[in-house]
Amino acid sequence: MKELNIRPESEQDQSTIHQINAEAFETEIEANLVDALRDSGATLISLVAERDNVVVGHILFSPMTDAAGDSIPVAGLAPMAVAPEYQQQGIGSALVRSGLEHCRAAGYKAVIVLGHPRYYPRFGFVPASHFNIRSQYDAPDEAFMALELEPGALGEIGGVVKYHPLFDQVA
Ligand SMILES: CC(C)(COP(=O)(O)OP(=O)(O)OC[C@H]1O[C@@H](n2cnc3c(N)ncnc32)[C@H](O)[C@@H]1OP(=O)(O)O)[C@@H](O)C(=O)NCCC(=O)NCCS
Repeated sequence: MKELNIRPESEQDQSTIHQINAEAFETEIEANLVDALRDSGATLISLVAERDNVVVGHILFSPMTDAAGDSIPVAGLAPMAVAPEYQQQGIGSALVRSGLEHCRAAGYKAVIVLGHPRYYPRFGFVPASHFNIRSQYDAPDEAFMALELEPGALGEIGGVVKYHPLFDQVA
């Protein structure tokens, strides 16, 4: 049985995390975004997946704000990546599930993701429009998704929720 371990990133993981993101996505934009978010102190939770002691996956969460830029207890999931040769083995799912637990433990009440509409619903994400939450980007309704960690939390927020300004380069 192959061992899978999810843990917070350490300084030694930084170049591997960059490499995994660069390999999994079509361009290096996401890899550079991860570095830029870390450099700006905008990383809330950054986890790696180790398979038999080799780092093969990564997930990042950063704090979101309301339309005015004020802080809200909502975490943005992005990006996440699993090295191509390790995909389809449940590693991405393990990263999401552990990430959600870390967000909850950090006091966050909801998580937003802009991503594949066929992937994230399995973790409980539904279109954010369900909670009257909108993206600052021109995203398809079904791709901008939300999950409440505390029932009712998003009802108190409503409106536009924004990723860190560094995401504007990627969107
Ligand atoms: C998305 C990603 C992180 C999933 O990691 P993973 O370890 O392969 O995920 P799991 O093994 O837990 O789950 C695999 C499932 O993801 C689905 N999936 C993977 N890529 C997908 C995509 N582009 N669109 C929709 N579903 C996708 C697979 O169809 C599979 O579904 P199934 O379980 O119904 O067969 C990985 O495919 C990846 O790094 N992709 C490239 C980067 C990327 O797109 N990141 C996400 C940005 S939102």
